[in-house]
Amino acid sequence: MKDLFDKIYRDKGPLGKWASQAEGYFVFPKLEGHISNRMKFQGKDVITWSINDYLGLANHPEVRKVDAAAGEMYGSAYPMGARMMSGHTDLHEKLQNELASFVNKEAAYLLNFGYQGMVSTIDALVSKDDIIVYDVDAHACIIDGVRLHMGKRFTYKHNDVESLEKNLERATKLAEQTGGGILVISEGVFGMRGEQGRLKEIVALKEKFKFRFLVDDAHGFGTLGKTGAGAGEEQGVQDGIDVYFATFAKSLASTGAFIAADQEIIDYLKYNLRSQMFAKSLQMQLVVGALKRLDMLRTMPELKDKLWENVNALQSGLKERGFDIGTTQSCVTPVYLKGSIPEAMALVKDLRENYGIFCSIVVYPVIPKGLILLRMIPTATHTLDDVNETLEAFSAIRDRLENGTYKRLSAAVAAAMDK
Ligand SMILES: Cc1ncc(COP(=O)(O)O)c(C=O)c1O
Repeated sequence: MKDLFDKIYRDKGPLGKWASQAEGYFVFPKLEGHISNRMKFQGKDVITWSINDYLGLANHPEVRKVDAAAGEMYGSAYPMGARMMSGHTDLHEKLQNELASFVNKEAAYLLNFGYQGMVSTIDALVSKDDIIVYDVDAHACIIDGVRLHMGKRFTYKHNDVESLEKNLERATKLAEQTGGGILVISEGVFGMRGEQGRLKEIVALKEKFKFRFLVDDAHGFGTLGKTGAGAGEEQGVQDGIDVYFATFAKSLASTGAFIAADQEIIDYLKYNLRSQMFAKSLQMQLVVGALKRLDMLRTMPELKDKLWENVNALQSGLKERGFDIGTTQSCVTPVYLKGSIPEAMALVKDLRENYGIFCSIVVYPVIPKGLILLRMIPTATHTLDDVNETLEAFSAIRDRLENGTYKRLSAAVAAAMDK
């Protein structure tokens, strides 16, 4: 009989296999200093383009003051126990009410983490006779939620409404046999490539098909829509979203998340979300901090304006210089280059060491072989100088990629990998 760990000794997994070349630098890098547009990486100053602190709240002095005062007042334990048992407070309720009204829903419920919260939301919304239809590029938390489902599920091609329609036809036929309903799931903004989910077209399909619509708006909340209420507001279809989800881990620069829906749906979910029923309540410091951040989001539109000034400067600057930034419709700014993984590593190293630019790098198998994706996240803390410096650096690294510099530099890396 095999030892359970045999496979682990043999195969570290699709990402883990790169650990010896990548760890500490390309993955698990240690960014130091206060969260902002400029931080330190391995002792060097870098412009950071890899942190989802969209509105620049993470290190805002008012936020830091409230976080510190809440820590002083409540410590990090309070309240103890799950919400249902002993972890419920007036402030948890207040935050829920304010979040619900901000995203134009009747009610909201807090989640300790977005990931587990989404898994549980999907789990609680469907039973075995129901059918889930979801975007094939959905975030891992949606995929894990779907994995718990005991009934049928169909994927539709990424952001492809025709493919969704075909799958809704299949799902409808099946649901007529099982006696179940249909749940459609999309993201508000797809975090890797930056496209908005086609929420408007999906909601319009409700005229033709009977389904409920769950949207993960992690990247849209706070960044899109007139008031910052997200991709549903931006596309004018917030009412057509039956269950709206967002995390505090991006625009609100914290930890925690929420779902918002009709009162009766939230009343059901709060008694059926296993990740919340059987886990400690969101700690008070985070609740107080989220109330402050939400207040700033509501009352300081200049934060979102500054964010978009930077997004527009970065995206139009890249396009003017002939970079391929794909089809982004959000702050997420992907830059696609052609090259191998060793070339990508040499290029990113050059960017960090010689130009002081820190951005995330995405390669195969997340994107097709031969493509390098540099994923940039502008925030309200960036300046136009940061943008210009970065554009200059990008032009320089593209020249070096095209003239074969990275191929040469990476030869040693490639040789090591072939071993
Ligand atoms: C689209 C999306 N959904 C859900 C999550 C998970 O949220 P959390 O970090 O609160 O667990 C993330 C990442 O933060 C995300 O990008």
